[in-house]
Amino acid sequence: MYTFYASPATLNEALTLKALHGPQARIMAGGTDLLLEMERGVRRAPDGGELGLIDLTRVSGLAEISEEEGWIHLGSLVTHNQVVASSSIVSHAFPLARACWEVGAPQIRNRGTVAGNIITASPANDAIVPLMALDATVTVASADRGKRTLPLAQFSTGFRQVDLADDEILTRISIPKLNNSARGTFIKLGLRRAQAISLVSVAVIVEEGEDGLTDARISLGAVTPVIARAQKAETFLRGKQLTDEVIDEAARLAMTAAHPIDDLRASAVYRLEMVGTLTRRALRQLRDGRERAGWPETPVLLWGENDGRWPAGNGEAAGSPGQALVNGEPLTLTGGQTLLDSLREAGFTGVKEGCAEGECGACTVYLDGMAVLACMTPAERAVGSQVVTVEGLGDPQHLAPVQEALVEAGGVQCGYCTPGFVMSAAKLLEERPRPTRDEAAAALTGNFCRCTGYVKIIDAVMLASEKKRSPRDS
Ligand SMILES: Cc1cc2nc3c(=O)[nH]c(=O)nc-3n(C[C@H](O)[C@H](O)[C@H](O)COP(=O)(O)OP(=O)(O)OC[C@H]3O[C@@H](n4cnc5c(N)ncnc54)[C@H](O)[C@@H]3O)c2cc1C
Ligand code: FES
Ligand code: FES
Repeated sequence: MYTFYASPATLNEALTLKALHGPQARIMAGGTDLLLEMERGVRRAPDGGELGLIDLTRVSGLAEISEEEGWIHLGSLVTHNQVVASSSIVSHAFPLARACWEVGAPQIRNRGTVAGNIITASPANDAIVPLMALDATVTVASADRGKRTLPLAQFSTGFRQVDLADDEILTRISIPKLNNSARGTFIKLGLRRAQAISLVSVAVIVEEGEDGLTDARISLGAVTPVIARAQKAETFLRGKQLTDEVIDEAARLAMTAAHPIDDLRASAVYRLEMVGTLTRRALRQLRDGRERAGWPETPVLLWGENDGRWPAGNGEAAGSPGQALVNGEPLTLTGGQTLLDSLREAGFTGVKEGCAEGECGACTVYLDGMAVLACMTPAERAVGSQVVTVEGLGDPQHLAPVQEALVEAGGVQCGYCTPGFVMSAAKLLEERPRPTRDEAAAALTGNFCRCTGYVKIIDAVMLASEKKRSPRDS
């Protein structure tokens, strides 16, 4: 699957490795795009062969979110879940928080980074849309030439293309903070409410003055080869009050910036109409002060006691070089494959392969305490880390509370998906022992069941939460 796997401990080491291997190796952050692209053969070395991997997730200091003189900086390992949990981003760059909350499911958000989203540069990638509206910049570095910073709009050069040389690494994303009179939001339309690629998305920011809007910024996702701003609509809105007529005209003008295509998921005509609808909806929400409706005060993260930052753990969990600590026991995992394949080869067959592409959650494990997908993680990443599989939560004689509750509530039929559900539900209950039904549903958005349906599984999570707090079990 890959020619080599390198795990540098410092940024300098990573830059040296990237300069040495150039186009023969890719930088990997969460791997949620890259591993799939490599598996599907769309990301190859220039000679058509396999690529090497330079995994950044052992480099400390890259997962920080910091504020400085009107700016928010995101290191290149900042994940979507970190953005969602950041009070700084929720306060001063809300459209980005909302977009990151819409990405995939908790396990994907625990590994997938904003930097990776930008560099894959798909027009349907959610984080890019608000970052364009927020006038973000990116900083890249190389061992030979040092750093350069450029606007994201300049960095995004074409369909799935960015201005990144073969020896460069993206090190920072910077966002000018929205001032107190500016507000914004992001709306995504997908074919379902989670794990869906955007059919259309919009980010809208408005700044209000006494005589109307002093600024308006609108960017559109999934309807142009490169995510772009709807400049005619923006110009029209400046100086206006947000009346229904003004909003309708701005929505119409936003549609003129869209050039959608027909594909499996939607027709171009439908997408175009939805650009108008979503722009109108976002502007009305902003006018009526409803843009944060439904925003969870304490989002479900499935990172347990952690703070979501990589590297989690100290890299010495197994105590023996080259080994991982799997369910408390040191283990040598075979590399050159996914953690899913490696764990199953080692006998942990409770870790299931449903899709092998991040969609079903059947392979959910904990990596240094965070719920992640084993099919989206190279086996080598587990070296020096703690891994917990479903076998580590309970056994037939000593079921975990969630396992007991699934049996009692009738939340199991064929059982194939069950280990993944158990892992997500147990992590939720560790994170919040008394979840609401909505929180239980949010925790399970990355897990698919093809036979039972979700009502009884959610019933089981609620039952397990009651069992955990009953005096009998305390
Ligand atoms: C099931 C599933 C659901 C998904 N849902 C969504 C969704 O709803 N919305 C959405 O927008 N995306 C979605 N994605 C796509 C993906 O999760 C995101 O794009 C994610 O942000 C990618 O980040 P990553 O850290 O995993 O990137 P990686 O896969 O590690 O890397 C992506 C690319 O960026 C390069 N790269 C990464 N970091 C750096 C760096 N610092 N310097 C130089 N190059 C770098 C890599 O070489 C690679 O080319 C989904 C993916 C899956 C598998
Ligand atoms: S998500 Fe990993 S096998 Fe489906
Ligand atoms: S019980 Fe069969 S897939 Fe969920």
